[in-house]
Amino acid sequence: MSEPLLKVENLKKYFPVRRSLIESLKKVPPKYVKAVDGISFEIARGEVLALIGESGCGKTTAGRTVLRLIEPTDGRVIFDGTDITKLSQEELRPFRRRMQIIFQDPYSSLSPRMKIGDAIAHPLLVHGLAEKEEAKEMALKMLKRVGLTPEEEFYERYPHHLSGGQRQRVVIARAMILKPEFVVADEAVSMIDVSMRASILELLESFREEYNLSQLFITHDIAVGKLIADRIAVMYLGKIVEIGPTDEVLKNPAHPYTKALIDAVPSIARRKKGRKFRVKGEVPNAVDVPPGCRFHPRCPFATEECRTKEPELVEVSHNHFVACHHPLH
Ligand SMILES: Nc1ncnc2c1ncn2[C@@H]1O[C@H](COP(=O)(O)OP(=O)(O)OP(=O)(O)O)[C@@H](O)[C@H]1O
Ligand SMILES: [Mg+2]
Repeated sequence: MSEPLLKVENLKKYFPVRRSLIESLKKVPPKYVKAVDGISFEIARGEVLALIGESGCGKTTAGRTVLRLIEPTDGRVIFDGTDITKLSQEELRPFRRRMQIIFQDPYSSLSPRMKIGDAIAHPLLVHGLAEKEEAKEMALKMLKRVGLTPEEEFYERYPHHLSGGQRQRVVIARAMILKPEFVVADEAVSMIDVSMRASILELLESFREEYNLSQLFITHDIAVGKLIADRIAVMYLGKIVEIGPTDEVLKNPAHPYTKALIDAVPSIARRKKGRKFRVKGEVPNAVDVPPGCRFHPRCPFATEECRTKEPELVEVSHNHFVACHHPLH
């Protein structure tokens, strides 16, 4: 196999928790939100990895840290053979074009005062890839490419003239005009009307084919992951607890948490035999991470070992890894 485009090694992001004055005076040691607590994965060229998990498990922080939109606390991100974690902002510039992000909220990620055509042309000017007229031509082509036609008319519109789905097409166009090799799509369809979701996913898929685009596709919705991803990584409280080929993870989940996520989706769970289960309670906060397996307080199978010893990721079948002392198979 060729080298993966992206390699993430033991990446961590801890956010310091603000201390009260009294705590500072008493020299209470600082506490941290361990949003991302040592994750490793690779993405091949043209591959889509879905990052799945409940709210607050660290998906967005992971995606932004990979792109160095926030600075990692520890670990390495290797993009096309270069360790980008230690690069200066100046040295990062050429990588910024190659790695893009598509945000969740198409309402807040576009400037209300910029024509959408200019918004799409803007990155070309910022990166010095085209002069004004040429950038406009390219933006017009891109509007057509993402299905916003007649493109001359759409060029002149402002975001408030557009539906949520149309805005998300603009956001995708703005990222894709730079011909990136890698994109983090953070809940790219979560705020879009269900009726529009499939066409937005198809649009992303068409760019994967055209650019051989790799994607880290962040979603809390395992059904969306099923549609788009080659592999799925399941995150729980800052850690990847299971990772493997999409079909394999969905058919044979090995981690109780993954199974519970799947069982919560009627369209996928319906077709499966056997006992379904739900997990108790809510995700604990990422400041006081439970000892041992961090999932143990919610796990129906937890034993003494789970309360004391943290499980490592081990391969349970080809390319399918799970961090659990008592995997389901
Ligand atoms: N800038 C920040 N400062 C402090 N804590 C933060 C910061 N950003 C995120 N967190 C915390 O880090 C943890 C992970 O948050 P994150 O947004 O990455 O989760 P998520 O999986 O994307 O959740 P969601 O599905 O709700 O988008 C949460 O406990 C969150 O409160
Ligand atoms: Mg998020």
